[in-house]
Amino acid sequence: MNFIEQLVSQALADFLNAADAAALENAKARYLGKVGQITELMKGLGKLAPDERKTQGAVINAAKTRIEKELNARRDALADAQMQERLNAEAIDVSLPGRGRGMGGMHPIMRSWERVEEIFRSIGFDVADGPEIETDWTNFTALNSPENHPARSMQDTFYIDGNDTEGKPLLLRTHTSPMQVRYARMHTPPIKVIAPGRTYRVDSDATHSPMFHQIEGLWIAENISFADLKGVYLNFVKAFFETDDLQVRFRPSYFPFTEPSAEIDIAFGSGPLKGRWLEVSGSGQVHPTVVRNMGLDPEKFIGFAFGSGLERLTMLRYGINDLRLFYEGDLRFLKQFN
Ligand code: DAH
Repeated sequence: MNFIEQLVSQALADFLNAADAAALENAKARYLGKVGQITELMKGLGKLAPDERKTQGAVINAAKTRIEKELNARRDALADAQMQERLNAEAIDVSLPGRGRGMGGMHPIMRSWERVEEIFRSIGFDVADGPEIETDWTNFTALNSPENHPARSMQDTFYIDGNDTEGKPLLLRTHTSPMQVRYARMHTPPIKVIAPGRTYRVDSDATHSPMFHQIEGLWIAENISFADLKGVYLNFVKAFFETDDLQVRFRPSYFPFTEPSAEIDIAFGSGPLKGRWLEVSGSGQVHPTVVRNMGLDPEKFIGFAFGSGLERLTMLRYGINDLRLFYEGDLRFLKQFN
């Protein structure tokens, strides 16, 4: 084997041994680079006699062509191998089971909320939504609890920076009752509406949360009586608790915005709570002052209102004994409702 043949086979061996693109380019430099061996041979041609230069030049050129061809082949092979390696690394096994994200579910309070809406809609009630930040007038005064009225002290709440147009601080509504006045002022009788929503008080224990939910009911027309309240509410609790086996009683009470006023109690005829009277709602005949604040003539319009706690209804429906469970976000609790 002459020197040039040896050089070519050495180059081919080096290319084959190059494990990656960088090593291959280093090997290339040794033969074809600026001071590579083939390059040096080319440079040496100038010193040869013309005849020799011609034959020797052809030989060197052939060697160079051969080396370049093998170099390109090796480049392609290395690129293919790299691509193959990537494909293997990124392969997706389509036969693996999917990674489920888990289905979300509705909060039990929300379930009750929607259920109550559905029941009242089915008997012709509108559903209204009102602001949680209220004015002193709508939350108290319009509902016949003027400033310094003792009934206000039972509903301490959170105040907001900023005043209403009367210069009184804005507050978080303590009940959904302000919606009675808001709604009535925007509609003409007969008025038949429920208003579910969040309410706030400075209160926190096993049966009270600073944020809770109520559902307000209002029916105002020319001849709506306590008998209608009784019929509507009995129908509601039977539908809500999915049983006819319960009793409802009205217990005299006091609210500034109703006269007469009553607490509504229910008693189940069976189940773990059988026979126990359980308070579920405040209610009453809307006070003439409130009817007037609705922009209506109390000599002409009369009706009833009620305000029920959604937490309370939900606790009774599912047998939950601590209201705080609703707000702890513990999935072990929440999952039971889906
Ligand atoms: N707003 C009352 C409360 O939060 C509940 C209530 C009582 C609402 C009687 C009414 C009603 O509409 O007539 O304690």
